[in-house]
Amino acid sequence: MDHFKGQPRLPKFAVPKRYDILLKPNLSDCKFGGSVAVDLDIVSDTKFVVLNAAELSIASGSVSFTQKASSKVFKAIKVELMEADEILVLEFPDLLPHGVGVLAMEFEGVLNDKMKGFYRSTYEINGVKKNMAVTQFEPADARRCFPCWDEPACKASFKITLVAPSELVALSNMPITEEKINGALKTVSYQETPIMSTYLVAVVVGLFDYVENHTSDGVKVRVYCQVGKANQGKFALDVAVKTLELYKEYFATPYPLPKLDMIAIPDFAAGAMENYGLVTYRETALLYDDKHSAAANKQRVATVVAHELAHQWFGNLVTMEWWTHLWLNEGFATWVSYLATDSLFPEWKIWTQFLDETVEGLKLDGLAESHPIEVEINHASEIDEIFDAISYRKGASVIRMLQSYLGAEPFQKSLAAYIKKHAYSNAKTEDLWAALEEGSGEPVTKLMNSWTSQKGYPVVAVNIKDQKLDFKQTQFLSSGSHGDGQWIVPITLCSGTYDSRKNFLLQGNSETIDVKELLGFSILDDKSRWLKINVDQSGFYRVKYDDDLAARLRHAIGKKCLNETDRFGILDDAFALCMARHQPLTSLLTLMSAYSEELEYTVLSNLIHVISPYCFVLMLLFCWCFYIPFISKSCDFPARKLGWDAKQGESHLDSMLRGELMTALAVFGHDPTIDEAIRRFQAFLDDRNTPLLPPDVRRAAYVAVMQRVNTSNKWGFESLLKVYRETDLSQEKTRILGSLSSCPDPNIVLEVLNFLLTPEVRSQDVVFGLAVSKEGRETAWEWLKENWEHISKTWGSGFLLTRFVSAIVSPFASFDKAKEVEEFFSTRTRPSIARTLKQSIERVHIKAKWAESIRNEKQLAEAVTELAYRKY
Ligand code: BES
Ligand code: ZN
Repeated sequence: MDHFKGQPRLPKFAVPKRYDILLKPNLSDCKFGGSVAVDLDIVSDTKFVVLNAAELSIASGSVSFTQKASSKVFKAIKVELMEADEILVLEFPDLLPHGVGVLAMEFEGVLNDKMKGFYRSTYEINGVKKNMAVTQFEPADARRCFPCWDEPACKASFKITLVAPSELVALSNMPITEEKINGALKTVSYQETPIMSTYLVAVVVGLFDYVENHTSDGVKVRVYCQVGKANQGKFALDVAVKTLELYKEYFATPYPLPKLDMIAIPDFAAGAMENYGLVTYRETALLYDDKHSAAANKQRVATVVAHELAHQWFGNLVTMEWWTHLWLNEGFATWVSYLATDSLFPEWKIWTQFLDETVEGLKLDGLAESHPIEVEINHASEIDEIFDAISYRKGASVIRMLQSYLGAEPFQKSLAAYIKKHAYSNAKTEDLWAALEEGSGEPVTKLMNSWTSQKGYPVVAVNIKDQKLDFKQTQFLSSGSHGDGQWIVPITLCSGTYDSRKNFLLQGNSETIDVKELLGFSILDDKSRWLKINVDQSGFYRVKYDDDLAARLRHAIGKKCLNETDRFGILDDAFALCMARHQPLTSLLTLMSAYSEELEYTVLSNLIHVISPYCFVLMLLFCWCFYIPFISKSCDFPARKLGWDAKQGESHLDSMLRGELMTALAVFGHDPTIDEAIRRFQAFLDDRNTPLLPPDVRRAAYVAVMQRVNTSNKWGFESLLKVYRETDLSQEKTRILGSLSSCPDPNIVLEVLNFLLTPEVRSQDVVFGLAVSKEGRETAWEWLKENWEHISKTWGSGFLLTRFVSAIVSPFASFDKAKEVEEFFSTRTRPSIARTLKQSIERVHIKAKWAESIRNEKQLAEAVTELAYRKY
């Protein structure tokens, strides 16, 4: 039996066709029992059947194989669960007959508290704590609920039956066919599913309310949530109905199931999970409260719903063949969620926010410790870590790059053909390229291989000389060193106006283009004529302009000739190049001055998120001389324009911007903002519905309040804890958790961190509390070390653990600290955090190197002074 150990994939001698599963969760003692009967096709000579199972006890005597044709029964003579490999090896006395038989067995397990497999979540009704039973199987935890062939390519149909307390709601992927009540228990049977992968099977048992609607072609859609909160499900319901109709058109295939349920689960590790016909969500990602949710919460709900529903086609109907192709699922769903959101809410200008995805992808992929989009997976424990910015954000970005290159229509047509061809089956990355190549006539496979099979991306240096544009690509690394990757880069450019857009493929290392030939006009004659490469930032690369081109762009930004995406893209590239020491800091600072009157959400929020962590490094080095220009020019100006109170009918983006700006000002310690926030917060404490503190600015106010908290004045902290304890809205709790540790007093930070580990904070939410102030960083690191054993035990079996490491380690900027972190983890690392740890340490090195190098920049003081006193 030992030769089945250590294999990444199950042997192929038996193929499951249909599962008949009975599950009986006991919500009082948190155990479950069950049985499974699998229609199994024996396709080669074997005495063994090998499938997945973990943390289950299998009743050995119950394991049998009954040949369909002859009804002959084979009893297993040995049943061994190999926990390290999560496989169950069954040995039979003789070779099993080829053809279909039924493999049957009974098992028992525990409803665990780890938010994976078959688990327990808790909620309160009228002050009484209750349990619910929930499943979360992706990537590889169906095996913790029932023995199965737990690989995405092993598709089968599922006939599920639940035995549950009669008074509770019991849901699964398909509609109920029969419900038999027998005293305190009921037996609920569901329609058999179409063939699908195990990771998409789901059941939920608990007490819920729901709201319901139908799509135009009769798909019944429901949103289930805590009792009494049905109203909060209406927004997601509306988005879901419209999105289903939209995807039906876009994929040219109807939604494949008769119903779609979406349900809010109080304890949930990810944001949401696309189980076929029964999508599970964190409460914050599904529920929207008219009075207490912010614009950003609304947008989150819409995009998460759009993402999960995209999976119903892309992922559920057509499934990746193996986890190596996970990015197909996640990258694609991420990209298409923008398409759906844009169609439903055009006023949100959601494509301008797509830049967040690209920027986060570029940031992670600029590390030497990044990985290719397609990544080899050898053990189930390695899968969790690839649900990262490479699979999601780089994945979505390269799809966007390809779609812009091929054009919207050929892209959609080819996708529809791909879905049709692989429906109820599996596909690999190359299958998608083949469909797009066929539909567009372009060399998609060759082009895209360069983006999916190697890590990293290029920086394209552009120089202009004598009417000729010189393009040269090299691999960009944030550390400043050069890699040797090479890509086929879809270059887009425009000059003077967006109508002049042109494109070509940069295939080799470099290429020289005659500008006049390409654009039809010269750009040298007119000094004010600008040239933007990577139009709309739709390519996954950075651009380095020569001084002449950079000056023209700066001018164009000041004059508002460029759209918001390009305005931000230029800044983000300049920033990254400066960090990598390809450009001096002075050129970045000069460029930043061109944004002094910026008012757009996209540009400002990215400016705050991407650049401000590094501003702290600058502030540490140069103190206030950097603080003044950054704050007063980039945040205070637009914040004054927006004010604290929402204008009637103002845009969604302005509502979001207000919160971001006020939060940034508070974090930077801007006294007028903090004073005003505290005044409004006091009003809020007296009346939670006060118009003085609408949801969009609450987090800002909470952060502001925490700036004034210290060990001798804990009023703000205690007040926030009171609000935390009193609210039953998860979004409110999250806002509070996200602000507490921004306190500049390290002793308070420590109190906050310890509070995170109390039962008052659900383990799904602890990571929100790790956004620690710069003053509290050291404390947080000490705390992490001290509590590592407990933390790694509690969160050790999922991807949330990696967030502790990255949130606490990455902000450091010194070589000594990097060494200390390395030493601490040298004996404590494990496969599931290995990559994140290396990436976090690399980030610390990069910042340390940068800080060292700019210390010596002579012109810096001059540039900063000039900026600080320039009128705005
Ligand atoms: N399939 C994932 C859920 C998931 C994530 C399962 C990690 C197992 C491990 C789901 O479709 C997803 O991507 N959810 C996102 C939200 C989305 C809007 C980006 C999430 O959970 O953050
Ligand atoms: Zn997803």
